[in-house]
Amino acid sequence: MKIIAVANQKGGCAKTTTVVNLAAALADTGLKVLVVDLDPQANASQWLGMQADSKGSFEAFTTKDDINTLIFDSGVKNLKIMPASRELAYLEKVLAGELATESRLKRRLASLKSADWDFVLIDTPPTLGLITLNALNAANELLVPVTTHVMTLSGVAQLMKTFEEVRELLNPDLNLLGFLPSRVDLRTRHAQDILGALTDSFGEKVFKAMIHESIRLAEAPSFQQSILQYKPSSSSSDDYRTLALELIQRTQ
Ligand SMILES: Nc1ncnc2c1ncn2[C@@H]1O[C@H](COP(=O)(O)OP(=O)(O)OP(=O)(O)O)[C@@H](O)[C@H]1O
Ligand SMILES: [Mg+2]
Repeated sequence: MKIIAVANQKGGCAKTTTVVNLAAALADTGLKVLVVDLDPQANASQWLGMQADSKGSFEAFTTKDDINTLIFDSGVKNLKIMPASRELAYLEKVLAGELATESRLKRRLASLKSADWDFVLIDTPPTLGLITLNALNAANELLVPVTTHVMTLSGVAQLMKTFEEVRELLNPDLNLLGFLPSRVDLRTRHAQDILGALTDSFGEKVFKAMIHESIRLAEAPSFQQSILQYKPSSSSSDDYRTLALELIQRTQ
């Protein structure tokens, strides 16, 4: 069981789009995948068809409920979800005064039966607060989506600083899996410049797979379907299948 945190504190950099569609592409190969939604916006949960009032990750942090009662079918074969809820926005207040709050998720995910899951993908909110710390502490791997249509590299340095701190203080085994170029439109000079800057800074850590800009991908959440269900033969579906294969290779 590999636990992958998808994080970048920059808002709107395709974290949720990556989690939902990569999860679906991994599940499509027959692997068993769990999406853990830690974002109070609950975008991944809604995309995968969950109701807003469901139990889920908030209860994982705040109760002793059996973890299996917080996991639900997504409608996609081999893909299940631990949904998020609005209450997560108040998690820091709810846990104030309690001990070891940054390792709660790690302890809860440790009670998953590892034979039941090949990949756990964690969607995180656009902040570097307690929730994202829990994700980085619980994970084996960090995957960082970077959009190439706006200048986004400035925030990456801050994320890398947090990554190093987490490794030093909490989770020495956390590995930087890589940077995923997202919303790529290679017709623009700008996208090419950002891809070049990413590769200059991070070399092999930049995925060869990339996710191109696509209207179909932006539409898919309205249909509560991953791109692989919504438009299986689209180039976006191919992008995620290619990404899934590279990720399987990189995590072996
Ligand atoms: N490849 C793409 N092509 C077109 N639109 C995209 C693509 N990837 C993401 N988007 C759109 O960009 C917006 C932000 O994406 P997404 O919600 O995945 O980002 P996020 O990092 O999860 O945001 P937040 O920080 O708010 O959680 C969404 O409207 C999404 O539909
Ligand atoms: Mg999101």
